[in-house]
Amino acid sequence: MKRIAVLTSGGDAPGMNAAIRAVVRKAISEGMEVFGINRGYAGMVEGDIFPLDANGVSNILSHGGTFLQSARYPEFAQLEGQLKGIEQLKKHGIEGVVVIGGDGSYHGAMRLTEHGFPAIGLPGTIDNDIVGTDYTIGFDTAVNTAVDALDKIRDTSFSHGRTFVVEVMGRNAGDIALWSGIAAGADQIIVPEEPYDINEVVAKVKKGYTRKGKNHHLIVLAEGVMHGEAFAAEMKAAGDDSDLRVTNLGHILRGGAPTPRDRVLASWMGAHAVELLKEGKGGLAVGVHNESLVEHPILGTAEEGALFSLTEDGKIVVNNPHKARLDFAALNRDLAHI
Ligand code: ADP
Ligand code: F6P
Repeated sequence: MKRIAVLTSGGDAPGMNAAIRAVVRKAISEGMEVFGINRGYAGMVEGDIFPLDANGVSNILSHGGTFLQSARYPEFAQLEGQLKGIEQLKKHGIEGVVVIGGDGSYHGAMRLTEHGFPAIGLPGTIDNDIVGTDYTIGFDTAVNTAVDALDKIRDTSFSHGRTFVVEVMGRNAGDIALWSGIAAGADQIIVPEEPYDINEVVAKVKKGYTRKGKNHHLIVLAEGVMHGEAFAAEMKAAGDDSDLRVTNLGHILRGGAPTPRDRVLASWMGAHAVELLKEGKGGLAVGVHNESLVEHPILGTAEEGALFSLTEDGKIVVNNPHKARLDFAALNRDLAHI
């Protein structure tokens, strides 16, 4: 393979730039040419494709976001969109693609591979909810940002003797809430993977305030459960009489300089994606498991280790769905000392 391209797709995540840089620099060191595709599959279809050299990715490693920009482009799920994209790849002589994104983006990579353009997926999202990897690019940074915010909220929470519900992103996954909640010493962590009883939540708040030396209460709420304001309303309806405030950290968790851990993960995975393309491989997603890089077929049978399978009527099944660390939820209950 002599010429490859790289794109970022779906929600952006800190570390995507580090991954792009790794793809470009590794490809050049392997004697390949590299093209950047702006705005994910939308840019591919529109032919927004340009050559990248080693200088072109200077000074991006430490920046959040993605300098190639990202897009959600549902049209690429249709054959017509894919064929238009392929026309553009052909026009530029591109033979393989590295796709940095989430599950949806992986499916686009699979379609390209099926059409004869090997594509490799890298897991880029703050949510840590992608199958086939222990950690995604961007998760560590989002947790760091959340912890920084939670530490700050604790200061004011203590000074005023208040209860705070802090909503964190994560889509349907509780990973960001669990990791940041433990790191910030949250009194309660509420995640979608575990049922909660609002009466128990309120009882814990009340009990906490009766404890000597405890004058505030910090609840980390994953957005997959509900919004913070709705949760606070439930608490009030269940008899909470504390001075309650809600903060939604929102998209702040998506930005900022990637942590060294995310930069290393992104660099490692980006370089590996190029190695796989060089071997002519496609339709694979790179992950990290037990501190080693792994790759799985995106589509196939569970026995082959594929991330997704198709049922006879064409529905996509996730073979080994991501699971949040519920042992961490239990750990926090032990440590919260309410
Ligand atoms: P993420 O990659 O973060 O999961 P999306 O689900 O929005 O985010 O997917 C990103 C993009 O991947 C979509 O906007 C679309 O362009 C492409 N995509 C999603 N699903 C498919 C599919 N089944 N086939 C081809 N392309 C897809
Ligand atoms: O997948 C990343 C994520 O930030 C989720 O945590 C969140 O639910 C969603 O994207 C927000 O999407 P948007 O940026 O389109 O509002």
